[in-house]
Amino acid sequence: MRRENIAVIGTGYVGLVSGTCFAEIGHQAIAVDRDQSKIERLRQADIPIYEPGLEALVRSNMEAGRLSFTSELQEAVRRSDILFLAVGTPSMPGGEVDLSYLESAFRQLAAAVDRYKLIVIKSTVPVGTAAMAEGWLREEGVEEGRFDIVSNPEFLREGSAIHDTFHSDRIVIGAEDQQAAERIAALHAPLQAPVLFTDRASAELIKYASNAFLAAKISFINEMANVCEKVGADIALVAQGMGMDKRIGSHFLQAGIGYGGSCFPKDTKAQLRIAEDVDYDFKILRSVIEVNALQRERFADRIIQELTEAGGGKAVAVMGLAFKPNTDDLRDAPALDIIEALTTSGVQVRAYDPVALEKASAHMGRHELVTFHADPYEAVAGADAMVITTEWEAVKSLDFGEVARLLSQRLLIDGRNCLEPAAMAELGFRYVSVGRA
Ligand code: UDX
Repeated sequence: MRRENIAVIGTGYVGLVSGTCFAEIGHQAIAVDRDQSKIERLRQADIPIYEPGLEALVRSNMEAGRLSFTSELQEAVRRSDILFLAVGTPSMPGGEVDLSYLESAFRQLAAAVDRYKLIVIKSTVPVGTAAMAEGWLREEGVEEGRFDIVSNPEFLREGSAIHDTFHSDRIVIGAEDQQAAERIAALHAPLQAPVLFTDRASAELIKYASNAFLAAKISFINEMANVCEKVGADIALVAQGMGMDKRIGSHFLQAGIGYGGSCFPKDTKAQLRIAEDVDYDFKILRSVIEVNALQRERFADRIIQELTEAGGGKAVAVMGLAFKPNTDDLRDAPALDIIEALTTSGVQVRAYDPVALEKASAHMGRHELVTFHADPYEAVAGADAMVITTEWEAVKSLDFGEVARLLSQRLLIDGRNCLEPAAMAELGFRYVSVGRA
């Protein structure tokens, strides 16, 4: 394998994981961020995000001399032949993608292009961005022939990003120049993943299309679950039966309170907007987004209805704040919307999360109806009902006999369908989940 000198610009989720994994497979990687204090922390292997396995990998690759961190963008560009751009592309209020960080990174790196550079866009960007970035470089005076720009989207899931990198389903390389494409494929060779070569626009769209499709699976199964509730069927069995058809597949058919996180909400809105910009009304996607928002509302309404029917309890333990297990990411987390809906109705919330508690209390600030508890049993003690919003192992493996004793009413509302209805009924709970009888 040819050992490449790589700079990864942006040390967010994608940049940090990619840079570290490139080092792990033998390349020389410099990770760049303009946030000096973040770089200081990373140099001590102090990882700003919670991602299983990442800290150990950062540490060992730094020790092996393959991974380093800097806030000097131009210095890193001079020392590297391949530049990966992994800066944030947040969405703006109308769903439009904010490319200002990406543009600024391109314009800054231009001054350091002293020889040919192969530039790879890893950030999730609207179709046409790679072509636009060529324009930015030319405007900054970088000569034709001194660079190629390749699109190489990432498909990592938070919480299993390292595993996903080493077991990718595919590596998508969108390029206009064949040599550039092959060099990027060679760089990934130790990962032994299937490679798909495309044009750049298609690669850019594959990322949005994949996330939109997965989000659609989730909204579909959630609507199916809502129907199941009305007709007395069990969504877990319906999903199992559907998933046995290879054309459908069993993944992403877990009904519950819908998707959150840094990708699906942002990317679905961005894709809707991209379609709108070319005068296309992407009807399915519009519904996917709407259904996802409604699912949270329905769940909050259900909690309030159950509390009322149980005699008007006023306090609930909300178990899990992160948008999914194994991450401390609170971006667009369903739990936060549900807590807001509950407190707006005057319900007291006793919040628990094994990892994201501190972040959540900083994010939510002081609220007279919300308390935060590092101990799950403490959160439950004194509550009228327990609500599961994130299917953390620490929540699923609670001693539910003890939970039943601690709750003032044996009401258990599971927004992630992660417990066995029969076992919960045996413990004397009124167990409510999504789409299961
Ligand atoms: C996702 C994509 O999976 C990844 O390929 C892309 O690069 C980034 O976005 P991530 O956001 O980390 O990754 O989480 P993922 O595990 O895909 O879950 C997303 C959300 O969907 C979570 O809120 C999860 O709870 C929810 N979900 C997932 C369901 O509600 N039901 C399911 O069946 C699957």
